[in-house]
Amino acid sequence: SICWYDNAFLPEEEVRISPYDRGYNFGDGIYEVFRVYGGRLFEAEAHFERLRLSAEGLKLALPWGIEGLRAAMSELVERNALSEGTVYLQITRGVAPRNHLFPAGAAPVALAYTREVARPVQAMDQGISAITLEDIRWLHCNYKTLNLLANVLAKQEAAERGAADAVLHRNSTVTESSASNVMIVKDGVLVTHPANNLILHGVTRAVTLRLARAAEIPAEERPFSLDELYGADEAFVTGTTVEITPIVSVDGRKIGDGRPGPLTRRLQREFSAAIG
Ligand code: PDD
Repeated sequence: SICWYDNAFLPEEEVRISPYDRGYNFGDGIYEVFRVYGGRLFEAEAHFERLRLSAEGLKLALPWGIEGLRAAMSELVERNALSEGTVYLQITRGVAPRNHLFPAGAAPVALAYTREVARPVQAMDQGISAITLEDIRWLHCNYKTLNLLANVLAKQEAAERGAADAVLHRNSTVTESSASNVMIVKDGVLVTHPANNLILHGVTRAVTLRLARAAEIPAEERPFSLDELYGADEAFVTGTTVEITPIVSVDGRKIGDGRPGPLTRRLQREFSAAIG
């Protein structure tokens, strides 16, 4: 398919990544994953705003401007005739001889590609199992950086232990999962970790909270413990690729009756309606 690399649209075979790209050498960069429904970027505004905040956090310039990036992403979706799928956009600090200091002359390098992906209907319908792991990441998890090693290790450990995902916790406070946000339901109240520096401020998380408010489902953004997760009536993850996927067991213990709960189902329906 067609990629957008270093300001040009070109076939993937023609993309040539420099060995000296700081994304490659240091993980010195940021990214976004956008969902495309019906050929359109879903919640584009929110993703670009988060990209802007990530860039600010890493003191990374965005010479294209958000408008330039938005135009490029739309053109990429069009060129690949993408109807259902994702767009991956990453921006690194550029190409320079390896030195931890920011390079003086280097310009940021952007890469974007698309992928056809169907909605995860089976997981959304049946739910997934999760394990819990200590959240060993740094303290700027609100920046969407290329440094995903802790997330990768967590997801891999989950798979090796027969689970679909890892729910992360700091000293028993649940933060999020390896690649999505976590919400629980107890006595009709939706609870999720506050949007501070310890989690990624998920676009799907925000959409879900908005849908909950519109449906007059009480929602609290507050820290909750592992014990609250184990004892929840319902639990689910939210994310660009997982949408709203129920968690039906954690560390081998059933959540609720071990099946996706009614409030989760309701929010899934609202979400499907919202993506139209
Ligand atoms: N992951 N938390 C983490 C650590 C994430 O990596 C993601 C997204 C989310 C959910 O954010 P959003 O709703 O904006 O997608 C939460 C992307 C999809 C990824 O890395 O593939």
